[in-house]
Amino acid sequence: MSDRLTLQVDGQEVSATVEGRMHLADFLREELLKTGTHLGCEQGVCGACTVFVNGRPTRSCITLAAVCEGAQVTTVEGFDDDPLMAQIRAAFSRHHGLQCGYCTPGMLTTAYDIVRRCPDADRARIRQELSGNLCRCTGYAGIVEAIADVLATNPPAAIVQPMARTEIKHPVAMRAAVQRATSSPAVAGGNLAAAELPTAADFDNAIGLQQSLSLKVAAADVWAIISDPEAIAACIPGAALDGPADGGLVSGHCQVSVGLIKAHFRGQAMFAADAGKQTGRLLGKGRDSLSRTELAGLLDFALVDEGGDQCRLDLDMRYQLNGPLSQFGRPELVREIADHFLRAVGEALEARVLDPHSKAPRQRSLGGMRLIVAGLKSLLNRALRLR
Ligand code: FES
Ligand code: FES
Repeated sequence: MSDRLTLQVDGQEVSATVEGRMHLADFLREELLKTGTHLGCEQGVCGACTVFVNGRPTRSCITLAAVCEGAQVTTVEGFDDDPLMAQIRAAFSRHHGLQCGYCTPGMLTTAYDIVRRCPDADRARIRQELSGNLCRCTGYAGIVEAIADVLATNPPAAIVQPMARTEIKHPVAMRAAVQRATSSPAVAGGNLAAAELPTAADFDNAIGLQQSLSLKVAAADVWAIISDPEAIAACIPGAALDGPADGGLVSGHCQVSVGLIKAHFRGQAMFAADAGKQTGRLLGKGRDSLSRTELAGLLDFALVDEGGDQCRLDLDMRYQLNGPLSQFGRPELVREIADHFLRAVGEALEARVLDPHSKAPRQRSLGGMRLIVAGLKSLLNRALRLR
C-alpha cells in the first residue's frame, strides 16, 4: 500500500509516493538523497538516525515516513545557516568530539536539543541526556566537553524549536498510515497467503549458493524423508512446522543462533517434489519479528544415488535478506552458516534413516570466531576482486 506524502524537509516542501512500510530514514536517504542521516542499528537503539520531526528529536529508523504527512523534518543537512549548530559543530571539532563520524549527525542533533532544553546542564546531566546516542570511537569525553563548552558561552538561540502538539497537522492521516503499515501481513508477522509468496523469477538476480551433502545411507531411505515436509523439518535444528502441508503450502518457524545473534524466523513456503527425478523445490518467505529482518529463499534439491548405501544431496539456494540481519547475507558468511546447518541436517538425516524415532537435532550456535574468520575471508575476496 502506497501513500502520497507531503512534508517539509530542511525548509523545502517535498511531495512523494511512499510505501506504507518505508521508514523516514530510508525516505530521507534513498528518496531525497539526504545521506547525512546515518543508519546504525535500525531498531531505535543507537541514535545515529536522530533528526528533528516538528522540532523534536526523533529516531528516523523507527518512524514511518507516511506518518510525517504535514510534518517539518530537519536533518543535519538543514542546519547550514543555524548559528547555534555552527557553534556546536566548532566545539565538536575543538574538543575532538568525533573520530569516524558515524554517530555525529545524531550526536549533533541531540546536542542541539540538549543546549536549547537544558541550559544549566552540568557534565553529569549532559552524559545522562546523551545516553540514547552511542559512539564506538570517542569514549564520549570530547562530546561532553564540546556541549559543556557551548553551554558555558551563552549560545545563540535555537532556531529549531519543538512545535506545540496543537500545531501538528493531520493526526487522522497519521493514525491511518500507521494502521495500514502495521496491519500488512508481513509486518504483523502473520500468515501469508500462497499468492504473497515470492516466485522463482524474483530470485533471478539473488545471491546463490551451491552445496552438496554426502550421506552414508541408501538414497531411497533419504528420499522418503526429504520428500515429506514434516519429516525433513524434524531434521532441521530449531525448525518446526505448524502442521501438515496443505496443497504443498507449509507454515512454520525456524530459530537461528549465530554468535550472540538469535533470530526466530516465522513464515510460509511452497514445497514440491518429483519422485521420478528425485528433485524438489522449496520457495518461501519468513520474518524475524524482533529484528524485523525478512528472508526470502528458493531451494532446489536433487538426490543422487551413488550406489550401495551412499547418496548425495545437491542443493542450489538463492536468497534475499532485508533488514538489520542482512549484514549476515554476504555469501562467505552464508556459506559458513549453511555448512554448519547442513552438517547438522546430514547427521540428523542419517540418524533418522537408521532409527525413525531418533530425536530432533538440538540447535547449536555458530561460534563468533568462525564468523569473524568467514568475514575476513569475505573482505579478502572482495579486496582481491577489486585489484
Ligand atoms: Fe535509528 Fe540506530 S539507526 S536508532
Ligand atoms: Fe565513530 Fe562516534 S565518532 S561512532
